[in-house]
Amino acid sequence: MTVHFVDTHAHICSESFRDDFEEMIRRTEEAHVDRIMIITLSNEETKRAVEFAQRDPYKYTVAAGIFPEDVKDLTDAYYEEFMQTASMKEVSVIGEIGLDYYWEKDPGVRALQRELFVRQIELARKLNKPIAVHSRDAMQDTFDIMKEHHWKGLMHCFAGSKEMAAEFTKLGYYIALGGPVTFKNARHSAEVVTSIDEKYLLTETDCPYMAPVPKRGKRNEPAYIPYIAAKMAELRGVSIEYIADVILRNWDRFLEQCA
Ligand code: NI
Repeated sequence: MTVHFVDTHAHICSESFRDDFEEMIRRTEEAHVDRIMIITLSNEETKRAVEFAQRDPYKYTVAAGIFPEDVKDLTDAYYEEFMQTASMKEVSVIGEIGLDYYWEKDPGVRALQRELFVRQIELARKLNKPIAVHSRDAMQDTFDIMKEHHWKGLMHCFAGSKEMAAEFTKLGYYIALGGPVTFKNARHSAEVVTSIDEKYLLTETDCPYMAPVPKRGKRNEPAYIPYIAAKMAELRGVSIEYIADVILRNWDRFLEQCA
Protein backbone atom coordinates (compact mmCIF):
# COMPACT_ATOMS: atom_id res chain seq x y z
CA MET A 1 0.00 0.00 0.00
CA THR A 2 1.34 3.38 -0.95
CA VAL A 3 1.16 6.13 1.62
CA HIS A 4 0.14 9.54 0.28
CA PHE A 5 1.15 12.85 1.83
CA VAL A 6 0.04 16.48 1.95
CA ASP A 7 2.09 19.67 2.12
CA THR A 8 -0.27 22.48 3.13
CA HIS A 9 2.33 25.27 2.99
CA ALA A 10 4.95 25.40 0.23
CA HIS A 11 6.54 28.47 -1.32
CA ILE A 12 7.50 26.55 -4.46
CA CYS A 13 6.87 29.50 -6.80
CA SER A 14 9.51 31.54 -4.98
CA GLU A 15 13.05 32.25 -6.23
CA SER A 16 14.48 29.39 -4.15
CA PHE A 17 13.21 26.75 -6.57
CA ARG A 18 13.94 28.56 -9.80
CA ASP A 19 17.01 26.47 -10.73
CA ASP A 20 15.72 22.97 -10.11
CA PHE A 21 11.94 23.23 -10.18
CA GLU A 22 11.36 20.15 -12.36
CA GLU A 23 13.63 17.91 -10.27
CA MET A 24 12.03 19.16 -7.06
CA ILE A 25 8.58 18.25 -8.43
CA ARG A 26 9.88 14.84 -9.54
CA ARG A 27 11.05 14.22 -5.97
CA THR A 28 7.53 15.01 -4.67
CA GLU A 29 6.24 12.27 -6.99
CA GLU A 30 8.81 9.76 -5.72
CA ALA A 31 7.90 10.63 -2.12
CA HIS A 32 4.15 10.48 -2.91
CA VAL A 33 3.59 14.01 -1.67
CA ASP A 34 0.73 14.41 -4.09
CA ARG A 35 -1.19 17.30 -2.56
CA ILE A 36 0.54 20.68 -2.27
CA MET A 37 -0.77 24.09 -1.32
CA ILE A 38 1.35 26.73 -3.04
CA ILE A 39 1.59 29.81 -0.85
CA THR A 40 2.11 32.91 -2.95
CA LEU A 41 3.08 36.33 -1.64
CA SER A 42 3.06 38.42 -4.81
CA ASN A 43 0.67 38.73 -7.71
CA GLU A 44 3.40 37.38 -10.02
CA GLU A 45 3.85 34.25 -7.89
CA THR A 46 0.10 33.75 -7.78
CA LYS A 47 -0.24 33.86 -11.55
CA ARG A 48 2.46 31.24 -11.92
CA ALA A 49 0.86 29.00 -9.27
CA VAL A 50 -2.54 29.32 -10.97
CA GLU A 51 -1.05 27.75 -14.12
CA PHE A 52 -0.03 24.69 -12.10
CA ALA A 53 -3.49 24.44 -10.54
CA GLN A 54 -5.08 24.64 -13.98
CA ARG A 55 -2.91 21.75 -15.20
CA ASP A 56 -3.36 19.59 -12.08
CA PRO A 57 -6.13 20.80 -9.74
CA TYR A 58 -5.97 17.65 -7.60
CA LYS A 59 -2.32 18.13 -6.74
CA TYR A 60 -2.12 21.90 -6.47
CA THR A 61 -4.10 24.32 -4.36
CA VAL A 62 -3.26 28.01 -4.55
CA ALA A 63 -3.21 30.44 -1.64
CA ALA A 64 -2.68 34.17 -2.16
CA GLY A 65 -2.08 36.72 0.56
CA ILE A 66 -0.19 39.80 1.64
CA PHE A 67 2.41 38.90 4.27
CA PRO A 68 2.23 41.02 7.47
CA GLU A 69 5.70 42.53 7.01
CA ASP A 70 4.75 43.73 3.52
CA VAL A 71 2.25 46.19 5.00
CA LYS A 72 5.04 48.78 5.03
CA ASP A 73 5.30 48.88 1.22
CA LEU A 74 1.63 48.31 0.48
CA THR A 75 0.01 50.69 -2.02
CA ASP A 76 -3.68 51.06 -2.91
CA ALA A 77 -2.87 50.05 -6.50
CA TYR A 78 -1.25 46.82 -5.31
CA TYR A 79 -4.18 46.00 -3.02
CA GLU A 80 -6.61 46.55 -5.90
CA GLU A 81 -4.65 44.10 -8.05
CA PHE A 82 -4.43 41.66 -5.13
CA MET A 83 -8.22 41.68 -4.75
CA GLN A 84 -8.55 40.79 -8.45
CA THR A 85 -6.00 37.97 -8.17
CA ALA A 86 -7.58 36.66 -4.97
CA SER A 87 -10.96 36.49 -6.72
CA MET A 88 -9.70 34.08 -9.39
CA LYS A 89 -11.45 30.74 -9.14
CA GLU A 90 -8.09 28.90 -9.00
CA VAL A 91 -7.16 30.78 -5.83
CA SER A 92 -8.81 28.66 -3.11
CA VAL A 93 -7.34 30.11 0.08
CA ILE A 94 -6.36 33.58 1.32
CA GLY A 95 -2.91 33.37 2.92
CA GLU A 96 -0.54 33.52 4.33
CA ILE A 97 -1.87 36.47 6.25
CA GLY A 98 -1.54 37.36 9.92
CA LEU A 99 0.83 39.01 12.37
CA ASP A 100 4.60 38.95 12.76
CA TYR A 101 5.88 40.75 15.84
CA TYR A 102 9.21 38.94 15.75
CA TRP A 103 10.49 41.05 12.88
CA GLU A 104 8.36 44.10 13.65
CA LYS A 105 8.92 45.97 16.93
CA ASP A 106 7.28 49.29 16.02
CA PRO A 107 3.83 49.51 17.69
CA GLY A 108 2.53 51.70 14.86
CA VAL A 109 3.47 49.17 12.19
CA ARG A 110 2.10 46.33 14.36
CA ALA A 111 -1.22 48.18 14.40
CA LEU A 112 -1.07 48.39 10.59
CA GLN A 113 -0.45 44.62 10.48
CA ARG A 114 -3.59 44.02 12.54
CA GLU A 115 -5.59 46.28 10.24
CA LEU A 116 -4.33 44.48 7.13
CA PHE A 117 -5.03 41.09 8.75
CA VAL A 118 -8.65 42.02 9.46
CA ARG A 119 -9.04 43.49 6.00
CA GLN A 120 -7.86 40.24 4.39
CA ILE A 121 -10.08 38.09 6.64
CA GLU A 122 -13.04 40.18 5.54
CA LEU A 123 -11.99 39.78 1.90
CA ALA A 124 -11.78 35.99 2.45
CA ARG A 125 -15.28 36.04 3.93
CA LYS A 126 -16.62 38.00 0.96
CA LEU A 127 -15.00 35.52 -1.44
CA ASN A 128 -16.04 32.54 0.72
CA LYS A 129 -12.46 31.23 0.88
CA PRO A 130 -10.70 29.94 4.03
CA ILE A 131 -7.60 31.64 5.42
CA ALA A 132 -4.04 30.38 6.11
CA VAL A 133 -2.63 32.28 9.06
CA HIS A 134 0.95 33.16 10.00
CA SER A 135 1.52 34.17 13.62
CA ARG A 136 4.94 34.83 15.10
CA ASP A 137 5.39 36.21 18.62
CA ALA A 138 1.81 37.49 18.31
CA MET A 139 -0.34 34.56 19.44
CA GLN A 140 -2.77 36.43 21.70
CA ASP A 141 -3.48 39.22 19.22
CA THR A 142 -3.87 36.66 16.42
CA PHE A 143 -6.33 34.67 18.49
CA ASP A 144 -8.32 37.73 19.52
CA ILE A 145 -8.72 38.82 15.90
CA MET A 146 -9.62 35.31 14.71
CA LYS A 147 -12.21 35.05 17.44
CA GLU A 148 -13.77 38.44 16.85
CA HIS A 149 -13.67 38.12 13.06
CA HIS A 150 -14.46 34.44 13.20
CA TRP A 151 -13.99 32.63 9.90
CA LYS A 152 -12.74 29.26 8.60
CA GLY A 153 -9.09 28.47 8.09
CA LEU A 154 -5.85 27.04 9.38
CA MET A 155 -2.97 28.07 11.61
CA HIS A 156 0.30 27.60 9.75
CA CYS A 157 3.54 26.59 11.55
CA PHE A 158 1.68 26.65 14.84
CA ALA A 159 4.09 27.65 17.61
CA GLY A 160 1.69 28.11 20.53
CA SER A 161 0.99 25.94 23.56
CA LYS A 162 -1.34 22.94 23.56
CA GLU A 163 -3.87 25.04 25.52
CA MET A 164 -3.80 27.69 22.79
CA ALA A 165 -4.13 25.01 20.10
CA ALA A 166 -7.24 23.77 21.85
CA GLU A 167 -8.70 27.28 21.80
CA PHE A 168 -8.15 27.52 18.04
CA THR A 169 -9.63 24.09 17.29
CA LYS A 170 -12.65 24.98 19.42
CA LEU A 171 -13.27 27.74 16.89
CA GLY A 172 -12.93 25.20 14.07
CA TYR A 173 -9.44 26.21 12.89
CA TYR A 174 -7.05 23.52 11.65
CA ILE A 175 -3.49 23.30 12.99
CA ALA A 176 -0.61 22.75 10.55
CA LEU A 177 2.81 21.68 11.84
CA GLY A 178 6.11 21.18 10.07
CA GLY A 179 9.86 20.82 10.60
CA PRO A 180 9.89 22.02 14.23
CA VAL A 181 8.04 18.84 15.39
CA THR A 182 11.24 16.95 14.50
CA PHE A 183 13.52 19.31 16.46
CA LYS A 184 14.83 18.04 19.80
CA ASN A 185 13.88 21.18 21.74
CA ALA A 186 10.37 21.43 20.27
CA ARG A 187 8.42 20.54 23.39
CA HIS A 188 5.47 22.79 22.49
CA SER A 189 5.05 21.30 19.02
CA ALA A 190 5.21 17.74 20.35
CA GLU A 191 2.55 18.51 22.96
CA VAL A 192 0.32 20.07 20.33
CA VAL A 193 0.70 17.00 18.10
CA THR A 194 -0.24 14.61 20.89
CA SER A 195 -3.03 16.65 22.45
CA ILE A 196 -5.19 17.98 19.62
CA ASP A 197 -8.14 16.19 18.12
CA GLU A 198 -6.70 14.39 15.07
CA LYS A 199 -9.33 15.81 12.78
CA TYR A 200 -7.67 19.25 12.93
CA LEU A 201 -4.11 18.07 12.26
CA LEU A 202 -2.26 18.99 9.04
CA THR A 203 1.31 18.63 7.76
CA GLU A 204 3.34 21.35 6.06
CA THR A 205 6.92 22.13 5.12
CA ASP A 206 6.96 25.96 4.89
CA CYS A 207 9.66 25.28 2.29
CA PRO A 208 12.22 26.64 1.53
CA TYR A 209 12.42 27.31 5.30
CA MET A 210 12.25 25.03 8.37
CA ALA A 211 13.64 21.77 6.97
CA PRO A 212 12.91 18.82 9.27
CA VAL A 213 15.54 16.56 10.83
CA PRO A 214 17.55 14.92 9.16
CA LYS A 215 17.59 17.74 6.57
CA ARG A 216 17.68 20.54 9.13
CA GLY A 217 19.68 23.56 7.93
CA LYS A 218 19.26 22.65 4.25
CA ARG A 219 16.75 24.11 1.83
CA ASN A 220 13.40 22.53 2.60
CA GLU A 221 11.08 21.06 -0.04
CA PRO A 222 7.73 19.23 -0.19
CA ALA A 223 9.42 15.81 -0.63
CA TYR A 224 10.50 16.03 3.06
CA ILE A 225 6.92 15.79 4.35
CA PRO A 226 7.30 12.05 5.17
CA TYR A 227 9.88 12.93 7.89
CA ILE A 228 7.30 15.18 9.54
CA ALA A 229 4.45 12.67 9.22
CA ALA A 230 6.68 9.92 10.62
CA LYS A 231 7.49 12.04 13.68
CA MET A 232 3.81 12.85 14.22
CA ALA A 233 2.95 9.15 13.99
CA GLU A 234 5.68 8.31 16.50
CA LEU A 235 4.50 11.01 18.93
CA ARG A 236 0.89 9.84 18.73
CA GLY A 237 1.82 6.15 18.87
CA VAL A 238 0.16 5.27 15.56
CA SER A 239 1.46 4.07 12.19
CA ILE A 240 2.57 6.47 9.48
CA GLU A 241 -0.10 4.95 7.22
CA TYR A 242 -2.73 5.88 9.77
CA ILE A 243 -1.60 9.46 10.31
CA ALA A 244 -1.10 10.09 6.57
CA ASP A 245 -4.62 8.87 5.89
CA VAL A 246 -6.10 11.07 8.64
CA ILE A 247 -4.27 14.12 7.25
CA LEU A 248 -5.36 13.38 3.69
CA ARG A 249 -8.99 13.23 4.84
CA ASN A 250 -8.53 16.43 6.88
CA TRP A 251 -7.17 18.16 3.79
CA ASP A 252 -10.13 17.05 1.68
CA ARG A 253 -12.49 18.35 4.37
CA PHE A 254 -10.57 21.62 4.59
CA LEU A 255 -10.80 22.11 0.81
CA GLU A 256 -14.52 21.39 0.82
CA GLN A 257 -14.87 24.75 2.57
CA CYS A 258 -13.41 26.54 -0.46
CA ALA A 259 -15.68 28.37 -2.87
NI1 NI B 1 5.17 30.73 4.58
